[in-house]
This record gives sequence, structure tokens and C-alpha cells, in this order.
Amino acid sequence: MTQNDPTPNENNEIKVFDIPTRMFHWAFAISIVMAFSIGKFADDDSPIYPFHMFFGAMAITAVLFRIVWGIIGTKYARFSAFNLNPFALPAYLKSAFDKNAPASAKRNPASSIAAIGMMIFGILIPLSGYGMLTATTRAQGGQFHEIHETFATLIILIALVHIAGVIVYKVVKGENLGLAMLSGNKKAAAGEVGISNIAPVAGVLLLTLLGGSAFALASNYNAQTGTVNVFGKTLQVAENEKGEGEEGDEAEEAGEKGERGESKAEEARERGEKGESEAEEAREGEGKSAASNAVVIDTLSGPVTLDSKNTKAYKESESEAKETKKYEERERGEKDEKKSK
Ligand code: HEM
Repeated sequence: MTQNDPTPNENNEIKVFDIPTRMFHWAFAISIVMAFSIGKFADDDSPIYPFHMFFGAMAITAVLFRIVWGIIGTKYARFSAFNLNPFALPAYLKSAFDKNAPASAKRNPASSIAAIGMMIFGILIPLSGYGMLTATTRAQGGQFHEIHETFATLIILIALVHIAGVIVYKVVKGENLGLAMLSGNKKAAAGEVGISNIAPVAGVLLLTLLGGSAFALASNYNAQTGTVNVFGKTLQVAENEKGEGEEGDEAEEAGEKGERGESKAEEARERGEKGESEAEEAREGEGKSAASNAVVIDTLSGPVTLDSKNTKAYKESESEAKETKKYEERERGEKDEKKSK
């Protein structure tokens, strides 16, 4: 079997996945894993946090391309080749655990249904993230947040089941499906023919789209304010240098904390008040006006500028002030909720 030969090779494999489908698969898988990991484990003031949205944008770009490719693409990439019949699932799952069941290059119901599910969530998750950042009320932001997190959990669960399926296939049948998404080859049943065009040009187009949207986002990102301009809207995707931003999240977190007990909120307020006065003291103690935060130290290699924002006292006072802000946000949110009731 040469690159463009549709007939089976010596291992009875045919070419099933074209270049853009394989590229989509890995771009999508990486984006989902990265966006989820950053969203789940990185702090919103971490320098990698803006990449959460960046990978979300990559995922939706890849899926939008895939939808077009699912309509005009090669034989096995088309949605018409997907087996979306849920009633076909039990028989397929039985055959997946049967070592002697005949191989087929056709799209199976388990991977077809999982693929469509993941593609749908790959669109809805970034859209709900956008909704969170552009929400006009706290309640609306909270609803988008809820949807965003639930769908993110669901896509990861589907992906885990999908990967488990690949492992089961390898263990039971000895066929490495992971390689199929790299080489494009799958074992075929008698009479099945592969594709004769692996569509490299469409692959280049997908790369251009991914690179283009990455470039557009990066050039519209303002690291100082933690904002990015998307379709004329300024989105706060990370904390700004003053520790502001992601206010919806902060309010949400504060709200959750508040639910855990009024006493905690009280403590937060007290600490916040203390923090504010400490912040004042810290700034005064450093003997600087608010306008001049920089300290210049002469060293052997020349003058070095230290930003007093890096001092422990400043950071502590900042985090105390943040606590107060969360508390105030929560108070405001609760008032809003009462009013809406
Ligand atoms: C978060 C991780 C992953 C996601 C989100 C994901 C998503 C997808 C999607 C959307 C498809 C459909 C592809 C298409 O037709 O365009 C697919 C198919 C496939 N994936 Fe994944 N995948 C992930 C991880 C993996 C891994 C780790 C492997 C293997 C080591 C793998 C192997 C495959 C294979 C072999 C298919 C084709 C199944 C078939 O024959 O229809 N995937 N995956």
C-alpha cells in the first residue's frame, strides 16, 4: 500500500484517516487536556492562566474546521460514515471484547458517538466561557460558570472512556488504535477499501487556522491588564497586575466560602480591614508615595530597580485587600439575589 493506494497492505490495513482528521484529533486532544488542566489546577494569577482560554480557542477552532471537513472531507472523515445508532452499541461492545470478532475499518458506534459528543462539548465549553466573561449580572455569570464546569467534566469523562476503549482494543485484539490516529491505517474486513487521497492541503489549512487564531489572540492580549480583545469585546482572562480581574470567579469563590459560614466571612472582613490598614502602614513604612513604587539600588554591575510590589509586606497587604474585595463582592451578590427574589 503506497500513500495513495486504497487497497490493503500486507497487514491487511487500509488508509482510513486522512491528514486533517489526524491533525484535528491531536490538536483537539491536546487543547482539551491543556485547557482542563490549567482551568482546574492553575491559580488565576498564575502566568500560565491566560493559556486556559488560549487552548479553549484552539479547541473550538479545530472543531469548526472538523465540522466542515465532516461534510466535504474524505470517505471515513465524513459524518455520513459515522455510526450514530445507539442500538448498535451493545453488539459493538460485545465484539470489542471478543478476540475473534472480525476487524472492520468502518467507524464504530462507540467512537462515533463519543466523537460527536466531544465535538459538541468542544464548542459549548468555550462558548460558555465566553458567556461567563461577558455576563452582565452575577447570576448570569454564575449560570455560565456552572455550565462551563459541568461540560468540562463531561468531556474529560468521555475522553477517559474513549482512551480506555483504545486500551481495551489493544489488550483484547492486539491492535494499536492509537497508531491508527498517527499513521491513518486500520485493519480492514474483506472488500473494504481505503482512501486514495490523504488531503495534505486541508491539513495545511487547519494548521493555518490554528496558527492564525493563536496569533490573533496573542496579539490582542494585554499582559498588564490581563485582558484580550475578542470580537470587539474586552475579556478579563487573567488577573491584572493589581490582582484584579476574574471578578466573577472571585465573587463566586467568596460566595462559596460565605456559604460555609458567616463566621468565615466575618473573619475575612476583619482580616481585610486589618489588611487595608497594614497595607497603608507597609507603604508608609517603606517611605514611598503611591506614585513611586520603585527602589533603585546601585550594584557592581550597575543600577537595579526593585519594584516594591514584590515586597512581602506589599503582597500580604494585597492579598488581605483581595479577601475584603471578595467579601464585598459576595455581599453585593447576595443583595442582588435577594432583590431578584
Ligand atoms: C483528551 C484526549 C482525547 C480526545 C479529546 C479525543 C477525541 C477524539 C475525537 C473527537 C475523535 C474523532 C476523530 C474524528 O473522526 O475526527 C477521536 C477518534 C479517535 N481517537 Fe481520540 N481523543 C483523545 C485521546 C486519544 C488517545 C490518547 C488515543 C490513542 C492513544 C486516541 C485514539 C483515537 C482513535 C484511534 C480514534 C478513531 C476511532 C475510530 O476508529 O473511529 N484518542 N478521538
